[in-house]
Amino acid sequence: VIGARVPLRRSGRELSGRCPFHEEKTPSFTVSPQKQFYHCFGCGAHGTAIGFLMALDRLDFREAVAELAQRAGMTLPREADSANAASGPPLAPLYEVLAAASTFYQQQLRRHPAAAAAIDYLKQRGLDGTTAARFHMGFAADEWDNLKRALAPRYGEELLRRAGLLTGDEDRRSYDRFRGRILFPIEDRRGRVIGFGGRIVGTGEPKYLNSPETPVFHKGRELYGLPNVLAHARQPDALLVVEGYMDVVMLAQHGIDSAVAVLGTALTVEHLKTVFRLTPRVILCFDGDNAGRRAAERAVDTALPELTDGRELRLLFLPQGEDPDSLVRRVGKEAFLALASEATPVSHYLLRRLESQVDLGSAEGRARLSALAQPLLEKMPAATFRDLLADEIGRLVGRSVPAAVPARRPTTKTNTAGTPRPSLVRRAILLLAHYPQLAAQIGPPEALETIDRPGMDVLRRLLLAIGGLAQPRLDRLIELWRDTNDGTTLSRILASSELVPDTPAQAAAELRQIGTDLASQAQRTQLGALLRDTSPSQLDPQQKAQVLALLNRHRKNPI
Ligand code: UTP
Ligand code: MN
Repeated sequence: VIGARVPLRRSGRELSGRCPFHEEKTPSFTVSPQKQFYHCFGCGAHGTAIGFLMALDRLDFREAVAELAQRAGMTLPREADSANAASGPPLAPLYEVLAAASTFYQQQLRRHPAAAAAIDYLKQRGLDGTTAARFHMGFAADEWDNLKRALAPRYGEELLRRAGLLTGDEDRRSYDRFRGRILFPIEDRRGRVIGFGGRIVGTGEPKYLNSPETPVFHKGRELYGLPNVLAHARQPDALLVVEGYMDVVMLAQHGIDSAVAVLGTALTVEHLKTVFRLTPRVILCFDGDNAGRRAAERAVDTALPELTDGRELRLLFLPQGEDPDSLVRRVGKEAFLALASEATPVSHYLLRRLESQVDLGSAEGRARLSALAQPLLEKMPAATFRDLLADEIGRLVGRSVPAAVPARRPTTKTNTAGTPRPSLVRRAILLLAHYPQLAAQIGPPEALETIDRPGMDVLRRLLLAIGGLAQPRLDRLIELWRDTNDGTTLSRILASSELVPDTPAQAAAELRQIGTDLASQAQRTQLGALLRDTSPSQLDPQQKAQVLALLNRHRKNPI
């Protein structure tokens, strides 16, 4: 799969070549046929055959699997079949009835007598008819069951209800959810209608009403405006993430077709994964007020783990009282783009945020700054970006701040001083991921039970996951944990440029050593507790001997 896209040369057990995910002159991209895994030591990109197609061709998971299946001459079970088998009714009828509803609402905007007021309202907001049509905007009159009467005979009430188009108590009469509103159909990247946002005409509460969660609509995952973006560029240079439907639509009317909007929720990791699949450059737009600042803070915290190398995240704070809709109408395309080009890089934003929390004039303040920075740095997977930020913080506080996670690859010319030794648990996770067949080497699971160290829970779950695989292999673990918190942790560890032993024998030896070290550390902790609770004279001879042995060991090898 990879060799077809990247020229590869054999080097030992692996293949290597120039990384397709970042610019480089000397090859640091490796592919292991045994592990079914690729990894770039330069930028940290890594994953399975599925992940490779997702990243290179910007496919979603299903599309990548379908592509691989096709190449292998297999047919994937169709959505409807698999849904029938396991997870309830098929989805196709939902898409169908939602598309029919969208068509109906668009007709209503042109035909219903009451639509005149909606059209006036939109005109007064500066929206033109061509743009409204491009976004398939529609209208629902303020009547109880227009949509129901039009669609129920063909699709049935139950389906309309499941699509979120009707509302009302289960046992009572149902009626149209959207009434007296201008409708923005929400379409997925393939252009299928999955839900609606409805704006009241003029003023009133709630201003916007959205479709409820349905089998095809998940607010925290979807973005408004994707088909428009993709119609203009299969691989946009940059994407602008805004807050409102009207922002997307009005930007498009002014020739800015790179905006998508969240659907009345905070930015989620799923949103970020979606936008970064389309482009490496993302600009998040926020109102200039306090709410906007708080939203930015939350968004950045969510985004940190997604900031792998090569990805660029920037923040655009709009002037007080403006949103992209009002701003682009006031200043026009060029001025808006000029502002966007000066959006704050997330690293600057983080530094400023940290600085504002401490007094850099005092030694305590500077110490506090590195303390505050540490958890943020730890959340970041990207070696380069994190190191840069750590350097800048170091400059601010006047000493070096370790960038926490990565031990740099020995061959790269970086200053490794100050980089802490990777923890035993982290190293164990890395080795076991690469050599899951060696799980037994780290020792019996019971021995790990009592150990309480950061990451132990992940290590324990990793061992469980390995135990559950018929044929343990790195790619299977990655896919098993795709889109889970453990998967994110694993990915962060796999992204590092730490070297992994070439042979299973070396890995086994290292794992045995880690098992022993972890066990003796656990014992020491237990003895420490014992010594706190019991006076030395009350220890039995065996306990005394253990304490002495451990104290000796500790002196020689302080961990
Ligand atoms: P805003 O309140 O900022 O509205 O909501 P807006 O986008 O500027 O709308 P206009 O310009 O007054 O028409 C931003 C987004 O938050 C969600 C909607 O997705 C909206 O586009 N929202 C807002 C709701 O879901 N419900 C609401 O009542 C308000
Ligand atoms: Mn607005």
